Amino acid sequence: MMDSRFVSEILFKYVTGSTNDDAIRLARSGMPEGTLILADYQTNGRGRLGRRWVAPPGTSVLMSLILRPILPLEKIGALNLAASVAVAMTVSKMIGMKAMIKWPNDILVKGRKVAGILIETGLDLSGRPFSALGIGINVNMSEDDFPIDIRPKATSLSELAGRYLDRLELIDLFLSEFEPRYKEINSGEWLTLLSEYRQLSWTLGKQVRLITDGCRIGGLALDIGEQGELLVRLPDGRLERAFSGESSIDC
Ligand code: BTN
Repeated sequence: MMDSRFVSEILFKYVTGSTNDDAIRLARSGMPEGTLILADYQTNGRGRLGRRWVAPPGTSVLMSLILRPILPLEKIGALNLAASVAVAMTVSKMIGMKAMIKWPNDILVKGRKVAGILIETGLDLSGRPFSALGIGINVNMSEDDFPIDIRPKATSLSELAGRYLDRLELIDLFLSEFEPRYKEINSGEWLTLLSEYRQLSWTLGKQVRLITDGCRIGGLALDIGEQGELLVRLPDGRLERAFSGESSIDC
């Protein structure tokens, strides 16, 4: 297993605060691209926009990959496209059901969330940029494992597939889906990726409610821009560009 040449080192922890915090700390101190941090349980798992990510021990894929993309900072959104498409493809192949991407990077099957992605960027001690690509996949969780309020909105791959799934196999599959797409964005050419993302999008063509800084506006999700931003047509005809770092949609 883990025959990916992209991964240079794997660190496994039974318990950690957050694998993304570990990845950020290690990347700051100079650990190379391809360092993969895996955990069985997180005491302080983090989601996007300050949310928490909770999963019982041993049930999920909880991982963070250190990356050092050769991309100008304003293009870093492409990393979100590559990661979302790779996770959606992984899930689809693993359980044989179509996984879709709710903008920016929630992975849904049958309209319920099975995986989330948190990308954080920073500079290491020598001023080199890095990204920590954090991925949480609900693998062998039962209905009861989810907090009651999110049960209608989330599920796990085992609930969908009706069988226990091998987490290491999923990680391997993810790496094989991610690596070629990561190469593509690093080469500066990601039109294929953008069209894959559009095809897998659950959001495009739908009426959405965009939340930016607590403000809600309704509109039609028209397209995804080259930086992974969502283009929304507002009722007055204006176009709004929403960037993933500051916005989410709640329907
Ligand atoms: C989201 O949907 O809001 C993103 C969730 C990302 C969760 C993963 S689990 C592994 C990594 N470590 C964290 O603390 N968060 C990410």
